[in-house]
Amino acid sequence: MSVILGIETSCDETAAAVVEDGRKVLSSCVFSQIDIHQAFGGVVPEVAARYHLESMNAVVDEALERAGVGRRQLTAIACANGPGLVGTLLVGLSCAKALSWSWSLPLITVDHLQSHVCANYIDSDLEPPFVCLLVSGGHTQLMHFSDYSAGTILGETLDDAAGEAFDKVARLLELGYPGGPAVDRAARDGDPKAYRFPEGVVDGYDFSFSGLKTAVLRTVGKLEEPLAGRTCDLAASFQDAVNRVLFKKTRAAALETGVKQVVLAGGVAANSNLRERFGELTEIEVFMPSLKYCTDNAAMVASAAHFMGNAADLSATVYSRGKRTGSRR
Ligand code: KG4
Ligand code: ZN
Repeated sequence: MSVILGIETSCDETAAAVVEDGRKVLSSCVFSQIDIHQAFGGVVPEVAARYHLESMNAVVDEALERAGVGRRQLTAIACANGPGLVGTLLVGLSCAKALSWSWSLPLITVDHLQSHVCANYIDSDLEPPFVCLLVSGGHTQLMHFSDYSAGTILGETLDDAAGEAFDKVARLLELGYPGGPAVDRAARDGDPKAYRFPEGVVDGYDFSFSGLKTAVLRTVGKLEEPLAGRTCDLAASFQDAVNRVLFKKTRAAALETGVKQVVLAGGVAANSNLRERFGELTEIEVFMPSLKYCTDNAAMVASAAHFMGNAADLSATVYSRGKRTGSRR
């Protein structure tokens, strides 16, 4: 049996969680810095690192207390060591190293993106093989997992990540930060057919969202007065264009690879319209994490440590981006 303390600090959430056997969450604590970064309209890396440092110990204490678990019941300490902001990742990794050393527990590092995928193992009986649509603030990948090891990348974005597109369009529509949830909310009151935005024509399973973003920008520029009461229609039409292509390519990848299961992962998997769309798939079983495990959290880190973590030691380092965890098909 594994009882793992997971730590997550790759961006603006300080999180710690205790998870049993990769699926049963005993506690999951997330301290979000959204309020702190809102004034700047986005995450300020240096500020984020400082706040992680201030709250890290308290968040770990709370996770252990809520789980009712002491150091003797733990079997390992895990943390995400990349991709993410180097300064913030270092806070989590240093904390994990200190706990591992002082409590004589194994240290496990996990890839942040793979931990998003593993959020689907929480409270579920999902087992590979499956196709995963991973859509976060920094990445958009379509992956095939044949077992519990790193998957194969079938396609990825050639420019902006899906979450990044949501965030940029939210700024354009003056909806504030974080953009994804704001666009999601505004879109509920809008007409997705009000504007026909391009899906971004890219071959195979790759994606492109920068043309779509420019199309929204041009449309906003042509309005007679700023936004002219069209915010909700613009949000709904933009969201529809993103989700249309995400759904279409994921479904096609599942059918081509012959898997019977599709999973959604990453912050954009919290999007209500995307969830509805996938919820209507009948020929393939669809898994999506509950909302609290879509965006950054540490339960997914502890789960990933159980299923696909890397044994590490005090020489472990962090990485910002670019490290390919799955091979490209
Ligand atoms: O996975 P995540 O928490 O952090 C990264 O690893 O990047 O993803 C954050 C991204 C942000 O771009 C945010 O705007 C987006 O996920 N997001 C959403 C929603 N909730 C979060 N995008 C669309 N609809 C949402 N409801
Ligand atoms: Zn993330």
